[in-house]
Amino acid sequence: MILLLAGTTEARNLAGYLAAHDVACVASLAGVTRDPVAYPVETRVGGFGGADGFCAYLDAAGITAVIDATHPFATRITERTARICAARGVPYLRYERPMWLSRQGDTWHEAADVADLARVIPRGKRIFLATGRQSVGDMTHLEHSAIWARVIDAPDAPFPLPRGDWIVGRPPFSQADEQVLFTDLKPDWLVVKNAGGAAGRAKLDAARACGMSVAMIARPKGPDGITRREQLLDALEWALTL
Ligand SMILES: NC(=O)c1ccc[n+]([C@@H]2O[C@H](COP(=O)([O-])OP(=O)(O)OC[C@H]3O[C@@H](n4cnc5c(N)ncnc54)[C@H](OP(=O)(O)O)[C@@H]3O)[C@@H](O)[C@H]2O)c1
Repeated sequence: MILLLAGTTEARNLAGYLAAHDVACVASLAGVTRDPVAYPVETRVGGFGGADGFCAYLDAAGITAVIDATHPFATRITERTARICAARGVPYLRYERPMWLSRQGDTWHEAADVADLARVIPRGKRIFLATGRQSVGDMTHLEHSAIWARVIDAPDAPFPLPRGDWIVGRPPFSQADEQVLFTDLKPDWLVVKNAGGAAGRAKLDAARACGMSVAMIARPKGPDGITRREQLLDALEWALTL
C-alpha cells in the first residue's frame, strides 16, 4: 500500500494515475482546506500526530512505500517523512513540480525567504500576497504597505495587518480572472512562493500584463540524498516498478 502525501493539484492527478493502474494507494491530506476537492482513491485527513504518530500509522496501515507530493514549501512534513522512511527502509519518492522561470517582459525579484521581502519591496507599496493564509501572520515587516492576501476559505480571524484585507477565492484561476482582480485592486507587487505548476502560472502572466513587479520567494532546497521526480508520469513509473 502506497501512502501519497497530498494537498496539491498534482498529488490529486497522481492519485488518478495510480488508481487507473490499480496501484493500492491511500492519499493523506493535512486538513488545512475546509472542503477539499475529492481524491479518486481512499483518503485520510489530518496530521499524524508528530513523528511517533506517523510511524504508528505506517505500521497500522501496512504502508510499503511513500510518495510525498506535498507542496514544495511544506518543508516539515517532507524533512520528517524522508528521514523516517530512510531509517525504516521504506521506499520514499519526493515529487516536486518544476520551478517557475521568468519569461520575457516579467519583472521578478528573488527574495531568499519571507523576511527578505522587506529588502526586495520598497516601503508603502500596494501588495497582493498569493502565499497562503499561514504566511500572512509572518508579514508584519510589510505593514507599512497595503496588503491583500488570497485565501481559499474565509478566515474567522480579522485581517492581522493594519492595512488590507482577505481575498477569498478557490483556485484554479485563469489569467483573465487574475487580470480582472489586479485591475480592480491595483497592486504594485505580487508576492508568490516559487511553487511551480501550470495552474498557478496564470497570476504571473497576469502580473506581467498588468505591469506589476513580482517578489518571488525562493524554494527551500529540501533534504539531500533523496529520490526526486519532477514529472507525474516519472513518479507513476517509480510506483509501478516497486
Ligand atoms: N506550505 C504551503 O505553502 C502550502 C501551499 C499549498 C498547499 N499546502 C499543503 O498544505 C499541507 C500543509 O502544509 P504545511 O506547509 O503546513 O506543511 P508542513 O509545515 O510541512 O507540515 C506541518 C504539519 O502538517 C501535517 N501535514 C502536512 N502535510 C500533511 C499531509 N499531506 N497529510 C497529513 N498531515 C500533513 C503534519 O502534522 P503531524 O505532525 O501531526 O503529522 C506536519 O507536521 C500540505 O499537505 C501541503 O501540501 C501547503
